[in-house]
Amino acid sequence: MNLSETHSSIIDDIRLSHDISKEVLEAILATDDKASIEYLRSSAREVATQRFGNKIFMRGLIEISSHCKNDCLYCGLRRSNRTAVRYRLTDEQIYECCEKGYRLGFRTFVMQGGEDGWFDDERMCRIVSTVRKKYPDCAITLSLGERSQESYQALFDAGANRYLLRHETASPEHYARLHPSDMSFQNRMECLQTLKDIGYQVGCGFMVGSPYQTIDTIYSDIQFIRGFKPQMVGIGPFIPAHDTPFAEMPQGTVAATLRLLAVIRLIHPSVLLPATTALGTLHPRGRELGIQFGANVVMPNLSPVDHRKDYSIYDNKICTGEEAAECRACTEQRIRKIGFETVVSRGDYSE
Ligand code: 5AD
Ligand code: FES
Repeated sequence: MNLSETHSSIIDDIRLSHDISKEVLEAILATDDKASIEYLRSSAREVATQRFGNKIFMRGLIEISSHCKNDCLYCGLRRSNRTAVRYRLTDEQIYECCEKGYRLGFRTFVMQGGEDGWFDDERMCRIVSTVRKKYPDCAITLSLGERSQESYQALFDAGANRYLLRHETASPEHYARLHPSDMSFQNRMECLQTLKDIGYQVGCGFMVGSPYQTIDTIYSDIQFIRGFKPQMVGIGPFIPAHDTPFAEMPQGTVAATLRLLAVIRLIHPSVLLPATTALGTLHPRGRELGIQFGANVVMPNLSPVDHRKDYSIYDNKICTGEEAAECRACTEQRIRKIGFETVVSRGDYSE
């Protein structure tokens, strides 16, 4: 398919039908026609602006543990990576991050970590309920990987509101090439459904340009997102991590990530869509470009600076030297520069 001749009607069609064919998806990813890409970009931005105005939601990210029992082939924190530096924040350190974040205006805390048995239900529920009591006006988002239904329920009952668990790929065959055999595609998908059934606002997502990704797997991702209708979708480029099996694999591209952000905005207009740190890592203005292609969330880092560089999912990650306040100010400034306004309110999903 040649996108350039009829690009505007093809893109209008995605916008109206909230659907896309595999052929059009392929054409969008392959085209080097500047006008087509610009039309895609401005359409996605228009849809975002209709819903959210020029507001970009800020979430404070706290990376609570770099330990992980899993061995995902792409991730720098995989258990077989002997060179990864492991740390865990104490309860107190987590509370200090929240307090710092709260004073900076954040009303959403995202607690993210590897799958670390240290943060069992007892410990994690204690942390969540403490934060919940202290900041009744804040949203608590967890991103702690796969856990049992009982665990997700207990954390929800303790006061968590949202859960981020990227599905990584909606193709079972592709999933099996990104993960060791002790991890299961079916379980991951079941976790996402369980989270939704419990009542969490749920985020799924995938890497752009992950090894063995094809147009078919991306098409499955898009169709999965259309069907599942998550409240959030996190996508960012794959960036090789040293000392992992995929260390020498080519990285994802900024261009493909931006185009997919726009497609996701068009097929799921109300979604909360972050301009990710990975995108900012591959391009000095990556997050700004993400916003211009329809993203509406940024997640400045609130983690203690002395551990930042150790939460090393991929190489050359940005924002590892900055204090929470600096990262917040930097983010705000960047967003203001391109004509948008940051908001720190809870920013819950609504249809
Ligand atoms: N490059 C980019 N993103 C990565 N993730 C894990 N490893 C990498 C990498 N090398 C993403 C995964 C995971 C999220 C926390 O980070 O999608 O779900
Ligand atoms: Fe973190 Fe710029 S956004 S330092």
